[in-house]
Amino acid sequence: MKSVLFFFASSLLLTFSDAVLVQKRAPIALATTAADWKSRTIYQLLTDRFARTDGSTDACSNLSGYCGGTYQGIINHLDYIAGMGFDAIWISPIPQNSDNGYHGYWATDFGSLNPNFGTSQDLMDLVNAAHDKNILVMLDVVANHAGIPSSSGDYTGYTFNSASQYHPSCDIDYNNQTSVEQCWISGLPDINTEDSNVVNALYNVVGNWTSTYGFDGLRIDTFKHVRKDFWPGYISSANVFATGEVLSGDASYVGPYQDYAPSLINYPLYYPINNAFVSKQAMSALTNQITANQNNFKDISVLTTFVDNHDNVRFLSQTSDTSLFKNALAFIMMTEGIPVYYYGSEQGFTGGSDPANRETLWSSSYDTSSDLYKFTAKLIKDGRQKANGTVITDVDVQDSIYAFTRGSVLVVLNNQGSSATNSISVKVGAGISDGTKLTDIFTNTTVTVSGGSITYNLQNGLPSIFM
Ligand SMILES: *[C@@H]1O[C@H](CO)[C@@H](O)[C@H](O)[C@H]1NC(C)=O
Ligand SMILES: *[C@@H]1O[C@H](CO)[C@@H](O)[C@H](O)[C@H]1NC(C)=O
Ligand SMILES: *[C@@H]1O[C@H](CO)[C@@H](O)[C@H](O)[C@H]1NC(C)=O
Ligand SMILES: *[C@@H]1O[C@H](CO)[C@@H](O)[C@H](O)[C@H]1NC(C)=O
Ligand SMILES: *[C@@H]1O[C@H](CO)[C@@H](O)[C@H](O)[C@H]1NC(C)=O
Repeated sequence: MKSVLFFFASSLLLTFSDAVLVQKRAPIALATTAADWKSRTIYQLLTDRFARTDGSTDACSNLSGYCGGTYQGIINHLDYIAGMGFDAIWISPIPQNSDNGYHGYWATDFGSLNPNFGTSQDLMDLVNAAHDKNILVMLDVVANHAGIPSSSGDYTGYTFNSASQYHPSCDIDYNNQTSVEQCWISGLPDINTEDSNVVNALYNVVGNWTSTYGFDGLRIDTFKHVRKDFWPGYISSANVFATGEVLSGDASYVGPYQDYAPSLINYPLYYPINNAFVSKQAMSALTNQITANQNNFKDISVLTTFVDNHDNVRFLSQTSDTSLFKNALAFIMMTEGIPVYYYGSEQGFTGGSDPANRETLWSSSYDTSSDLYKFTAKLIKDGRQKANGTVITDVDVQDSIYAFTRGSVLVVLNNQGSSATNSISVKVGAGISDGTKLTDIFTNTTVTVSGGSITYNLQNGLPSIFM
């Protein structure tokens, strides 16, 4: 009797785990809708640059090649990430790459993993360890191009091993959308996504990755460089939330892509963020762009919004004023959207053009007492995670002051810099009544709303989040 029961129990278990395997590996991986990602805060890291397995911190001699970061290294430092309040990570592309593809964007064989980052088991362990800490994992993927073969036209060892599986080589004419989609970006072989066998292979690969490892989302590289109607099938094969990289500041160009992916990277807002907080231009740049985005995107609340990433010079390479940086970070954390925070920001990294902006994080010794680490933790845990509700974007827009509300929380940003200690007056908006006492989470400055406004002194140009 006992053995019969055991038999039933184990066959039930098998059936259960088979069913799970068909969909996704770990239960948390079912949480892959835009609605779930909306509440998340993403930490973007480059797998090769974040942490080594053995924890060694000697310098990387050449940022154009591999520096030694691994999946195991990430596992060992998940608490460093979670300690700031992040509940999602974005990791580098995983397939085997051509020489020096430390960033992962030069795939050769899509069916095997880049051995520099660890084994298949290590990758599985990473996703499971992240899920155990309620951290979602977003995988960076590329379908537009492969890596350059060591000798021209020799695709031996590539998934797409025949020249006919690539578009003919040509330089991109950015005024011609067909050229954008079919010519070769940076001289990289452009995969022929007009060929149905190639398309099916790419769909199978991405479906295999998400079902094998349990990734919760995709960041899709070079999204505008593949015909739009390739993408819905790709994303449904992956069966997870996806944000696409359409590199353009023009909302009328990027917006229509939201018919082909749940989310896009908010490049249109990136340039105004720089104008407002690096170049100290009028804050109206922000509200004007938000309005343009509202007019061009289906849903701005699921766009992935950022200050820095691996393709642009770091904010702190353009100005050393960390107060300006803190205001920009407070903006992406509190305005509508899913914030993506670039690794190393918490250590004040100052790298310029690629690869200088792809520093090794171990150079910082993972210092959790640095000013920006502590600021980020407070911003996310006491700001973003405690403030929900509707965002009203234009409560008070002055030349160098920008105030908006998120639910009952008032965010006041400035671009005056760390020497600013002047008094400012700010309207609080209709949702906050006279007599309300508010306290700023960063400085503990307390104000009382009077005549629909508050007046207080800036403290070293810091942003304020009044609750
Ligand atoms: C760095 O590595 C790249 C890629 O291997 C190589 O082209 C370059 O010459 C190296 N630079 C130095 C200074 O060794
Ligand atoms: C699916 O992924 C697994 C694990 O990486 C790999 O072993 C297998 O070859 C892949 N299958 C296909 C069809 O790519
Ligand atoms: C646009 O680019 C495609 C691909 O290179 C090319 O075939 C076509 O002639 C171009 N169209 C124009 C108007 O230049
Ligand atoms: C706000 O956060 C609370 C606590 O996390 C949650 O219960 C509530 O549903 C959230 N409200 C909105 C509008 O997101
Ligand atoms: C603000 O008040 C809290 C709670 O009393 C305290 O822990 C924190 O150190 C204060 N911060 C500042 C900047 O004074």
